[in-house]
Amino acid sequence: MVLKAELHNHLEGTASPELVKRLASRNSMSLPSELFNDDETFKWTTFLEFLKAYDLASSVIKTPEDYRDVTYQYLKQCAGQNAIYVEVMSSPDHAAMAGMSYQDHLDGIVQGIEDAQAYFDVVGRIIVTCVRHLGPERSIEVAKQVVNNPHPLVVGFGMGGDENAHHLSDFSPAFNLCHEAGLLCNVHAGEMAGPESVHAALDHLPVKRIGHGVRSIEDPELIQRLIDQDITLEVCPGSNIALGVYSSFADHPFLKLREAGCKVTLSSDDPPFFHTSIGHEYDIASKHFSLSDEELTGITRTSLENAFADQKTKDKLLARL
Ligand code: HPA
Ligand code: ZN
Repeated sequence: MVLKAELHNHLEGTASPELVKRLASRNSMSLPSELFNDDETFKWTTFLEFLKAYDLASSVIKTPEDYRDVTYQYLKQCAGQNAIYVEVMSSPDHAAMAGMSYQDHLDGIVQGIEDAQAYFDVVGRIIVTCVRHLGPERSIEVAKQVVNNPHPLVVGFGMGGDENAHHLSDFSPAFNLCHEAGLLCNVHAGEMAGPESVHAALDHLPVKRIGHGVRSIEDPELIQRLIDQDITLEVCPGSNIALGVYSSFADHPFLKLREAGCKVTLSSDDPPFFHTSIGHEYDIASKHFSLSDEELTGITRTSLENAFADQKTKDKLLARL
């Protein structure tokens, strides 16, 4: 039994179509039928369409109890696949669009994490994210909310959204604010954009990890920079294939990155949208990248060593491996 850990998922994007429908009905909302395929999966084709479907699915998460349920269901699922540690990225902007305050969204997520830890012995932590295509001004507002409402389970700050909107340097003020308050940072780069976007992240933002970063493989100097700066890559192979970043697992650079000496980890990103799960990502690595159980446990070790939780929590988790 391989114990697992996950560093990269978008909490609002972890809710299954079934849960999204249940929350919609609980909140007396109707969802457009275009959100779903006939087989009850989420419907989208391009990355930008995916982001729209994500926004729509998120709109049904309207109360702290809803956030609690989304978090709890996701951590329960992860624990069922032998995950012992999961960082979830939350999006106060999505909560605000659904009419919820920062504090309400946080309270719900915290309750979900506490309940899941009590029932399933899975440890959860929160990375609060801003949305890149909503722009730098909005990112500062999110960063201020984070630093003005510190919580022990909030350990990081990051950014998702359209990788081609604005420049990463525009977001330095928001990231610096959170970094100076003691939070660790990650950012999406090198997925939809090329290696130059990973360089830009390292040039302008105080990040310890890169969300995806897989296209770093196109630039040997960047690979050396990632090693020198001890950057961890949050690799999500299933997401990369679903979004067409690579056409097959045989073309995916996971093994090349690993062999070049990069710190690579495994995550599921937006599991129901990309037809995956943390368990499935480890299965992909076993089947397509030929990793042994021992090597997969090594991936979990890398994830835990580079998790944003405090060292004592990480040491306890590492002792379980
Ligand atoms: N990528 C970028 N931004 C996102 C994603 C993603 O997979 N999910 C939600 N926001
Ligand atoms: Zn992501």
